[in-house]
Amino acid sequence: MDDSALVVVVTRPVPGGVAVPGAVVRTGPERRQTRDELLGLVRGARVIVSMFHDRVDGELLDAAGPTLAGVCNFAVGHDNIDLGECARRGVLVSNTPDAVTEGTANLAWGLILAAGRRIVEGDRFVRAGRLGREGPLAITDFLGAHFTGQNLLIVGAGRIGYAVGLRGLAFGMRVLYVSRRRRVDFEISPLGARRVELEAGLAGADVVSIHTPLTAETRGLIDARRLGLMKPTAVLVNTARGPIVDEGALAAALREGRLFGAGLDVFEREPEVHPGLLGLENVVLTPHIGSAERRWREVMAEMVSENAAAMVAGREPPNRVG
Ligand code: 8YV
Repeated sequence: MDDSALVVVVTRPVPGGVAVPGAVVRTGPERRQTRDELLGLVRGARVIVSMFHDRVDGELLDAAGPTLAGVCNFAVGHDNIDLGECARRGVLVSNTPDAVTEGTANLAWGLILAAGRRIVEGDRFVRAGRLGREGPLAITDFLGAHFTGQNLLIVGAGRIGYAVGLRGLAFGMRVLYVSRRRRVDFEISPLGARRVELEAGLAGADVVSIHTPLTAETRGLIDARRLGLMKPTAVLVNTARGPIVDEGALAAALREGRLFGAGLDVFEREPEVHPGLLGLENVVLTPHIGSAERRWREVMAEMVSENAAAMVAGREPPNRVG
């Protein structure tokens, strides 16, 4: 085995860094790379540590070359990776479950509160000097959503959905969930959630939070027709993957007051954002920071290091997904 066979390529820097005994770690730049730069960076890698925005397909696997044993995604979602192509070439794939759960659930709740209680709109109002000019506000101004006794619909009954539901209990909400299969763990105490069909759930929900992976089945799941089922007082939050929600249809619903508010941490054509959303007061936009709690990003780096070390040593990685 030559030296290049023991290179671990980390496509962008990660908190705490990646360390793999016996391997040289080659880390990409802070800034976003062009595809050609990325293809050049991975050449000769034994393991690639990829980010959620790196498309890991036949082209990238070819660029890495025959030394490649595995890909460790720095994310729980792995829709950026062609698992079939990796399997065909015997390239292992891992992800980072659990470490992203609390951060993403906390951000989802941040967005629920920000959109429902108009926090960012209020911040803009104050910064524009309007409180000084127009205040004190009338008691009828800035009215927002309430949560006690309201329905929180979790779309996608995984770890993050569960954590968002738990936080919903603290706000006095009733939890409903949508899942392909029944999840008794969601139904027992403390969550006590009720399983519903997607469309009935959307029609009855006061808050909808999306937590499904992006698959052929979930792409475009929340489209114009389904948005049309929601209450005009409801709030929709997406911290999962952008293409699950039709952004143009969402912008129209928000603009026309058919939906009270929305919070988006992910975008259909990330990093681009639908221009129709940018001018709206009733949507809160964050730049894909769901897992960005320092401690957990460091844990993600530790998990990636363990998975990469196993792949380099020819062992089964602890978080294998393909
Ligand atoms: C990002 C995520 O990967 O885990 C996922 O699927 O979307 C996030 O954790 C993370 O924010 C790194 O950019």
